[in-house]
Amino acid sequence: MTDRIFSGVQPTGNLHLGNYLGAIRNWVRLQNEYECLFCLVDMHAITIWQDPLELAANTREVAAGFLAAGIDPVRCIVFNQSRVPAHAELAWILNCTARLGWLNRMTQFKEKAGKQRENASVGLYAYPCLMAADILLYKATHVPVGEDQKQHLELTRDVAQKFNSDYGVDFFPLTEPLILGAATRVMSLRDGTKKMSKSEPSEFSRINLTDTADAIADKIRKARTDPAPLPETTAGLEGRPEAANLVGIYAALSDQSVAETIARFSGRLFSDFKGELADLAVAKLDPIASEMRRLRADSGYIDQVLRDGGARARALAEPLMTEVRRIVGFLAE
Ligand code: TYM
Repeated sequence: MTDRIFSGVQPTGNLHLGNYLGAIRNWVRLQNEYECLFCLVDMHAITIWQDPLELAANTREVAAGFLAAGIDPVRCIVFNQSRVPAHAELAWILNCTARLGWLNRMTQFKEKAGKQRENASVGLYAYPCLMAADILLYKATHVPVGEDQKQHLELTRDVAQKFNSDYGVDFFPLTEPLILGAATRVMSLRDGTKKMSKSEPSEFSRINLTDTADAIADKIRKARTDPAPLPETTAGLEGRPEAANLVGIYAALSDQSVAETIARFSGRLFSDFKGELADLAVAKLDPIASEMRRLRADSGYIDQVLRDGGARARALAEPLMTEVRRIVGFLAE
């Protein structure tokens, strides 16, 4: 079986540093080694209410972010999920494979539904089956993601295994997660115990890929830290979540390990370190932001990329879906 990558981002707002370091930056490297599909998962996005105009605008914006970060839309298939209806069709079949008990254990549903569980959409609950369908529809062998997606990928393997055993086939692969780099879980700049996320109200909690150089530097300067200087060993980061987060970000952006970063800055004050981190972050992120601005002015190009990607994805998906329908016993042409 050929190695194939599938990964996705919800087009629900700005891309931030967590999306970049946890996912997109790794994709840029992996596109040289694997056949890749990168998807704007708009069907996942509507599991929580989205204003239609904003969803469409965000889909283009996040696609521009992929390209600006270095994804090559000729080598890779870049598309929005809803252009390939087979995602929904396979998701339905996998809804019938997955067990209620498995979905009940999903921590992301618990976090997102919060206390309003009775009021959450059915789609939010079934979300992991749609994600399994995204991956299995292309028999993807590897899925590069941040650490927060690990549980969903375990479920994908469970679903694949149960489908294979229920139908007595060896059809779906057991997909491997690729969780790479020094910052697989980037934390909020305001609270080192919370994940950096699009939904956090404070803009100072995250660095957006569209932030100006001044905004990036300002957010890093204002990032929360404890009063101690940088430790001398990585073990000294334990119990210091804000310090560990900033060191991890530096390490990831400079392509070093956390140990190398600590060796370089040990004993230095955070005020010094933040200055260097801000320079590094601006140097790495500002070119992406300016390319995004350029692409934003050319929405015809983005639409063309997504249309072309959608057609290529459908061509890959259709023969697989034909097989799945046959395996399940659906009469079809
Ligand atoms: P989403 O849109 O929340 O995030 C997109 C990618 O960014 C990573 N990420 C982070 N990594 C490190 N630190 C953070 N603070 C951080 N925040 C986000 C995520 O791990 C992810 O890789 N369910 C997925 C979308 C999806 C998908 C798929 C992914 C749908 N189908 C199939 C892979 C394969 C999600 O909500 O990602």
